[in-house]
Amino acid sequence: MTDQIPQPADAKVAAEDPRADDSRVLIFDTTLRDGEQSPGATMTYEEKLEIAEMLDDMGVDIIEAGFPIASEGDFRAVSDIAKRSRNAVICGLARAQLPDIDRAWEAVKHAPRPRIHTFIGTSPLHRAIPNLTQDQMAERIHETVTHARNLCDNVQWSPMDATRTEWDYLKRVVEIAIKAGATTINIPDTVGYTAPVESAELIKRLIAECEGGRDVIFATHCHNDLGMATANSLAAVAGGARQIECTINGLGERAGNTALEEVVMALKVRNDIMPWTTGVDSRKIMNISRRVSTVSGFQVQYNKAIVGKNAFAHESGIHQDGMLKNAETFEIMRPEDVGLAATNIVLGKHSGRAALRSKLEDLGYNLADNQLKDFFVRFKELADRKKEVYDEDLVALMRAGEDAATDRLVIKSLKVACGTGGPAEATLVMSVDGEEKTATEKGDGPVDATFKAVQALHPNDAHLELYQVHAVTEGTDAQATVSVRLESEGNIATGQSADTDTVVASARAYVHALNRLLTRRGKTGQDTKEISYKDVG
Ligand code: KIV
Ligand code: ZN
Repeated sequence: MTDQIPQPADAKVAAEDPRADDSRVLIFDTTLRDGEQSPGATMTYEEKLEIAEMLDDMGVDIIEAGFPIASEGDFRAVSDIAKRSRNAVICGLARAQLPDIDRAWEAVKHAPRPRIHTFIGTSPLHRAIPNLTQDQMAERIHETVTHARNLCDNVQWSPMDATRTEWDYLKRVVEIAIKAGATTINIPDTVGYTAPVESAELIKRLIAECEGGRDVIFATHCHNDLGMATANSLAAVAGGARQIECTINGLGERAGNTALEEVVMALKVRNDIMPWTTGVDSRKIMNISRRVSTVSGFQVQYNKAIVGKNAFAHESGIHQDGMLKNAETFEIMRPEDVGLAATNIVLGKHSGRAALRSKLEDLGYNLADNQLKDFFVRFKELADRKKEVYDEDLVALMRAGEDAATDRLVIKSLKVACGTGGPAEATLVMSVDGEEKTATEKGDGPVDATFKAVQALHPNDAHLELYQVHAVTEGTDAQATVSVRLESEGNIATGQSADTDTVVASARAYVHALNRLLTRRGKTGQDTKEISYKDVG
């Protein structure tokens, strides 16, 4: 397969990564930019910094940390991520406008290895938005890439909607960007339209036919609208691309982006037919997947490849029998390879603090002594109610306790009466800015009554966008994890909680989301994007 693939003549010169060689594929993570733009996936400043640190630590080559011109919050997050970065290149997105590029540079310039990523929609549909002729757009590309390159040695350029751009025009603008100094040319399949054969062919042709095509790194950026993002990204690599753009858990608008965990593990497991490597430590995948799921509020579907709850579960008798005889019967990779503990030691009410600490470390949580002490109390409360405490229970309990210290609304107690033949009634005691208040409300079922009681104690205009309940483990004593997404004045916040009582978990998740909305309002501009990357022009 590799015989027909045109390779960049000197990948080492074009790539910013001195380790890069021809068999090396750079992993460009855009969880904090494309992923975070997904409606409802908004992350706080602290969460972005934490995820960036995890990405850097796991060996991601390039982190697209945000879109600095979008808001003050984005700018601050990108510049602080840049300041704290260690190995990864830190990239900021900019539209094809000089102020955008200046702003991106201001944010990333603090990084030991900064990159500016500028883009413009080049397909007929996208050209119509800023109403530019082909020539006018070509001129704009020349001007903006030149400007970016005058500021930064490492410039990525993307023709948005490349896969629906006429070949002649795409070739022309790619050549202009290369001449103007772009070091990486990214080819986005913005609407998830392409298919693997096309994806490989397009990259192959661009490298072979564009002047300067062998002197730069070609990147692939795929969306998953037809479920082909991973296949299209790998096909692009077979076509000569040496950078894959992806997100943790495939987070991203609509059906999401290429999932980092899928391309990394596909290249690892099928290295026999795809002889390319990445620098990612795959054992760190599960932790970051869980963390991104928590902070974005986007649950990972159970049967999601690599990181889904069932990805390594063997339920049926025939599978379990085969697994016991030889794990390779039904497993193409070991759970440890993606950071799942080989043995799932279950904790219970007799487990001590040392066992809890060791289990939490396995799950990626390193708690200070005082934090462990507090968490141990909550763990014991749960273990008293639930015979066996699984990994998932601990993760849910960790999530439930986050943000608590700064919360303005705190549930003190909740009593619910419900049954057949009448409305449910909830009596809630809640502390609002330190003052304890009580309300009793009726509703259509216990959750509705509880939410009405919260409303009565803290009147608000937040619109409920999502209410989701999942059982964390099996059995009637399983904890329910509840996610609630609220929207108010353009701010979106997701709250999560877990409890063996679904109504209690619902109340806490709702209040958690309200607390996060209150925090966001207090920090103007932190999460509300004033400009979207779709505001092309
Ligand atoms: O999907 C897309 O085209 C993008 C660009 C901004 C690269 O995300
Ligand atoms: Zn995208």
